[in-house]
Amino acid sequence: MNTKKLAAEQAVEEITDGMTVGLGTGSTAYYAIEKLGERVKEGLQIRAVATSKRSEEQARELGIPIVPFAEVKRIDITVDGADEVDDNLELIKGGGGALLREKIVAARSDRMIVIVGENKMVSTLGQFPLPVEIVPFAHEWTLEALESLDLNPGLRMDGDQPYVTDNGNYIADCRAEAIPDPAALHAKLNDIPGVVENGLFVSMAHTVVVGREDGSVQTLRR
Ligand code: 5RP
Repeated sequence: MNTKKLAAEQAVEEITDGMTVGLGTGSTAYYAIEKLGERVKEGLQIRAVATSKRSEEQARELGIPIVPFAEVKRIDITVDGADEVDDNLELIKGGGGALLREKIVAARSDRMIVIVGENKMVSTLGQFPLPVEIVPFAHEWTLEALESLDLNPGLRMDGDQPYVTDNGNYIADCRAEAIPDPAALHAKLNDIPGVVENGLFVSMAHTVVVGREDGSVQTLRR
């Protein structure tokens, strides 16, 4: 069962004529953009902004109108994936490296709909390594600061070079084991000079659409 596709297609039903839509990034968001492209071909009138170069490219190929950020005051709905969702609908995102743009777009959105397969649901965040976007300058010091929070950071690599985000930054994947208080860790991380943003999305998801192995779809609301 393709649980990602199930969730993605259900979430796209929420999008109606006249909306400005935020397009997420990742393999689940890919299905949502694909479905949205079909609906646009059938006549749905929307405009969109994208959270990554690859999502923007996919949207343009499908004929989804992408507008400049300067022309958008509010986004009606953003549809995006997640790496983990806890019992309070808090998220870890950034496995695909787009967390900064995803957070900027989610923060401008009246509703953030998160689409996941049921394997992403956890009671407490932290099994999935928490991505933290850091600037390349003196990144060794930033990694040390993350280390001092007992986060066991590892610089994400792309072959033998550091992985570089769409914003020209690096990613430190942190292993916290359990994150019982995402808001507290979020504040500590963003207080470190050199940290641009982290993958904890606290109080941002309004709705989580979960695709299940039995073919059903569950909608959780904040
Ligand atoms: C990218 C993300 C993705 O939404 C997250 O990694 C989930 O990806 P996928 O849908 O491929 O499992 O945050 O930065």
